[in-house]
Amino acid sequence: MLLAFDDESGFARLLGAAAALELAAIARHRFPDGELKLTLPERLPERVVLLRTLDHPNEKLVELLLAAETARTLGARHLTLVAPYLAYMRQDMAFAPGEAVSQRIVGRFLAGLFDAVITVDPHLHRTETLVQAVPARRVIALSAAPLIGRFVAQQGLRPLLVGPDGESHQWVAQAAAAGGFEHAVGRKTRHGDHQVQIELPAVELRGRHVVLVDDVASTGRTFARAAQAAYAAGAARVDVAVTHALFVGDALAALAAAGVREIWSTDSIAHPSNRVGLAPTIAAALRGLGAE
Ligand code: R5P
Repeated sequence: MLLAFDDESGFARLLGAAAALELAAIARHRFPDGELKLTLPERLPERVVLLRTLDHPNEKLVELLLAAETARTLGARHLTLVAPYLAYMRQDMAFAPGEAVSQRIVGRFLAGLFDAVITVDPHLHRTETLVQAVPARRVIALSAAPLIGRFVAQQGLRPLLVGPDGESHQWVAQAAAAGGFEHAVGRKTRHGDHQVQIELPAVELRGRHVVLVDDVASTGRTFARAAQAAYAAGAARVDVAVTHALFVGDALAALAAAGVREIWSTDSIAHPSNRVGLAPTIAAALRGLGAE
């Protein structure tokens, strides 16, 4: 059975159909003081999959706690979390004394609730494997990068793929291999949430079509600064392809102001830019898990 919340019913239907899982809803009631009450189906099968993508994660982490604990009392023996976007992965070390290492804390929290966790392009940079961040019995990190590369190729485009920083190398290289493109990677220095400096790779951009590729766009400043730098270097057109479309605040306006033409994202987070569907890929992983 696939359990999902009402605000993810669109993706839940796609995933349920692709994985041939019965879909059931978790009802949510918010009390006047902000507390939540969840209601699950009265009886659950042994194997249950819970879908919750973790953009705007803080309240969703409480939902996961309530839902997972309740699911076990209702008969679930094996619980899988499908979180197409896994939050808190970027804070993977204390950058200043006293800072919480959120990746490790949230990862352990999820591993304590779920037997298996499936996600897409988790932001693993200094942490080599997902199981180090989320020490559950079984973890699966899928990548949308090849899907993104094939999507760009299907548009009949022959761009140079550019990752804005070293962390994006893993994704831009896979997307380029899948689409048959050249790729290059720049360098980023972040001075604050909205202050980003990008140094593009030393490749000829004059007259070229550039597609910027990254795992996640939040304020959009990384893409915006990279796009500005690409145009300044003579690029003819700049588009953006990203796995996780957070696009908070004025992110889209910042991209438009930087001259970005098209924005393509996967449906890991529902957003008007969604073009690349993840349900078949996640369904295949769920089938593999069921067969283990
Ligand atoms: C972090 O290194 C990620 O890969 C992204 O580059 C980053 O999160 C994008 O953030 P923003 O859109 O706020 O610049």
